[in-house]
Amino acid sequence: MNLTTIRDVKHHVGQQVRIGCWLHNKRSSGKIQFLQLRDGTGFIQGVVVKSEVGENDWAQAKELTQESSLYVTGEVRVDERSPSGFELTVTGVETIQLSSDYPITPKEHGVDYLMDHRHLWLRSPRQRAIMVIRAQIIRAIQHYFDTNGFYLVDPPILTPSSCEGTTNLFHTKYFDEDAYLTQSGQLYMEAAAMALGRVYSFGPTFRAEKSKTRRHLIEFWMIEPEMAFVDHEENLRVQEQFVSHIVQSVLENCSQELVTLERDLTKLQNVTAPFPRITYDEAIDLLKEKGMELPWGEDFGAPHETEIAKHFDKPVFITHYPTSFKAFYMKPKPDRPEVVLCADLIAPEGYGEIIGGSQRIDDPELLAERFREHELGDEAYRWYLDLRKYGTVPHSGFGLGLERTVAWICGLEHVRETIPFPRLLNRLYP
Ligand code: 4AD
Ligand code: MG
Repeated sequence: MNLTTIRDVKHHVGQQVRIGCWLHNKRSSGKIQFLQLRDGTGFIQGVVVKSEVGENDWAQAKELTQESSLYVTGEVRVDERSPSGFELTVTGVETIQLSSDYPITPKEHGVDYLMDHRHLWLRSPRQRAIMVIRAQIIRAIQHYFDTNGFYLVDPPILTPSSCEGTTNLFHTKYFDEDAYLTQSGQLYMEAAAMALGRVYSFGPTFRAEKSKTRRHLIEFWMIEPEMAFVDHEENLRVQEQFVSHIVQSVLENCSQELVTLERDLTKLQNVTAPFPRITYDEAIDLLKEKGMELPWGEDFGAPHETEIAKHFDKPVFITHYPTSFKAFYMKPKPDRPEVVLCADLIAPEGYGEIIGGSQRIDDPELLAERFREHELGDEAYRWYLDLRKYGTVPHSGFGLGLERTVAWICGLEHVRETIPFPRLLNRLYP
């Protein structure tokens, strides 16, 4: 008999099916065994009744241990009480391998223990739900750009220079030269935008962050669109459309997984464009009112972002940060050059910054001046200055952090669960 999947049993009600699966859990009451089966596409309960199966099938079912692999055959029945809506009346069991001493039992384990067993932890219903939602988010991201006139462009991963400052550069050797793993593909995406108009990249980025926080990974995935002839205002409009599209597509396609994660759906249903905007100055005033005074010119930390987000039920843009602590490439506001045409998008519920973006400096003289100020005048950036020399145009872009987006949409405490194999300070295994 051909194999089917748990996802597809709905097309086979009343019929016999055969499924390749693992035993997730088991209960038995003498004459009946209830097998909780999983195959990656979902979970289903298989009911084995002693009087209705052969002796051999009963014996094999009885032997099954947690994470044993098997083929099960049975008849699909509708079962309103089960989360999947279906149940399997088992007629046959063929064990592939009996698993013994599976390290992750239904009891509680510590985080370090689970992280050491990440390769197995991924099989749990919760971790599976997160990975399914991550995959849906990626699908929604690609769909948004592919249907809105963007070309996918891949910037390099090994680079001779930094984009976001030198403090967390990941150093490596490139034969005899020094090289760095990319912190951001932005500078290359600016070149691509001058060639293709609207472009986006989707790839891994690396930051040797020495801090342990619930929002930082050493290796994370970033989506970086860059758009020629787009100014600061339009940049924000693209971002709010894009982020709303992602959230709504997860609501549409991952309802079961959101239930598994016990996510509060009303919080996500709310996420529709437009998003509120406040300036850095207004944010400073708001923080002062709440007793979190900060001198003008200082950057916000996680507690400040969380406080600001509390006042909105959607993601909020904080715009026009001081030029002094933002990246060298951001365009100053023409009538007030001490702030830049930039925005960070802060997710609700304390998830912090998910997007950093800006309009870029298009004036060659000003860019050259910034290079001197930031002491970036070396050979590695010569090509970047060329972009302002040969037909410079106004342009803007942004970077969305995939893992922070997954953490927010799934409602997770820590980014370590948002990526299959997280790279953290002190963790390179497994
Ligand atoms: O704000 P960032 O540093 O912006 C840039 O890199 C720009 N060059 C992007 C651009 O305009 N093309 O990073 C962008 C986003 C952050 O908002 C955050 O979501 C995520 O990347 N991010 C991290 N996520 C996980 N772990 C880290 N260590 C991260 N650092 C940044
Ligand atoms: Mg940022």
